[in-house]
Amino acid sequence: MVLSSILSTTTHPGDVLDAIADNSLSSVMVTQAAPDTPIIYVNEAFTTLTGYTPEDVIGKSPRMLQGPKTDQAVLDRLRKDLEAGRIFEGETVNYRKDCSEFVMHWRVFPVRDQQGAPVYFVALQEENDT
Ligand SMILES: Cc1cc2nc3c(=O)[nH]c(=O)nc-3n(C[C@H](O)[C@H](O)[C@H](O)COP(=O)(O)O)c2cc1C
Repeated sequence: MVLSSILSTTTHPGDVLDAIADNSLSSVMVTQAAPDTPIIYVNEAFTTLTGYTPEDVIGKSPRMLQGPKTDQAVLDRLRKDLEAGRIFEGETVNYRKDCSEFVMHWRVFPVRDQQGAPVYFVALQEENDT
């Protein structure tokens, strides 16, 4: 089912999108599909998960979450998946603003323009604490 196609025309699809992002239990991150994928949006759940506010991260690369124990093989797979237009899903160690480490489980996918070119990448992120 395509969410936007079943929404009432008396509401703006953007209002539903905003409500989902604002209330999501998952961290939501949106980046430009441009070199170094600068962050343009994070929701409140991202701040709860990482300790970083939007002001801390807007314009930076998501790489800022990485550190010594981050798994390079997972990042290589992510880069290849994005280049090939595939959805990425994986886990690795990331670091909060207070430098504490946690296992990030996340998915990244492109949002494309009408010509099919990626405009944004969106990540849905959760801690794997099992
Ligand atoms: C939308 C998006 C979200 C990302 N989120 C994370 C993340 O939560 N943790 C992480 O370690 N890397 C994340 N990355 C991956 C890095 O930004 C980068 O793509 C990865 O390190 C591979 O590129 P590099 O080899 O140039 O570092 C994300 C990338 C994108 C595009």
